[in-house]
Amino acid sequence: MDREQERHLRWEITHCTKCDLHRSRTHAVPGEGPPDARVFLIGEGPGREEDQKGLPFVGRAGSVLDGLLESICLDRKQVFITSVVKCHPPGNRAPTREESRTCRQYLGRQLALIDPEVLVPMGHWATWDLFELFGTADRPIGEVHGKTLAITIDGEERIVHPTYHPAVITHNPNMRRSLEQDFLMLGEVIRDLER
Ligand code: URA
Repeated sequence: MDREQERHLRWEITHCTKCDLHRSRTHAVPGEGPPDARVFLIGEGPGREEDQKGLPFVGRAGSVLDGLLESICLDRKQVFITSVVKCHPPGNRAPTREESRTCRQYLGRQLALIDPEVLVPMGHWATWDLFELFGTADRPIGEVHGKTLAITIDGEERIVHPTYHPAVITHNPNMRRSLEQDFLMLGEVIRDLER
């Protein structure tokens, strides 16, 4: 990754005023992770704590995510973590399609710079956004979670492994097994790449 381009992109995101979400944010949350991350995780949008700190997945969903990564021996410092929209939607609502589409150029540019091997959209919204970004037909998260798919980005096939969103178990504890299973399968995908 070109460090200068990365710094510039980060600056653009933190100063962005392209949609109304900038009016209520404390900090935009560009994402964090190494510039050469092989695994790229995508959430929905920063929550309240992320908005306060300017960092992704540092609140309740973040604790769940940390546990899931630990369960597959994946160090959080090795993966890049971001979200579809970079600013907190007030009241923790889902981003609108318009907000997602407006913010999407940043996700596309991050992917182009980092060039990861495995893309992990977490939850319905990130999966929808990624499929639309790369012109792939939308499929419901209930159908694709935990599965390994391929999408073509700039003529190259990439692995996409959608999972449920870590926050799902804060609303519905019965989803824990499915969520854990999605990450166990992700662990397998990564181990296969390393073989
Ligand atoms: N949920 C997300 O999708 N992203 C965050 O950064 C935090 C919670």
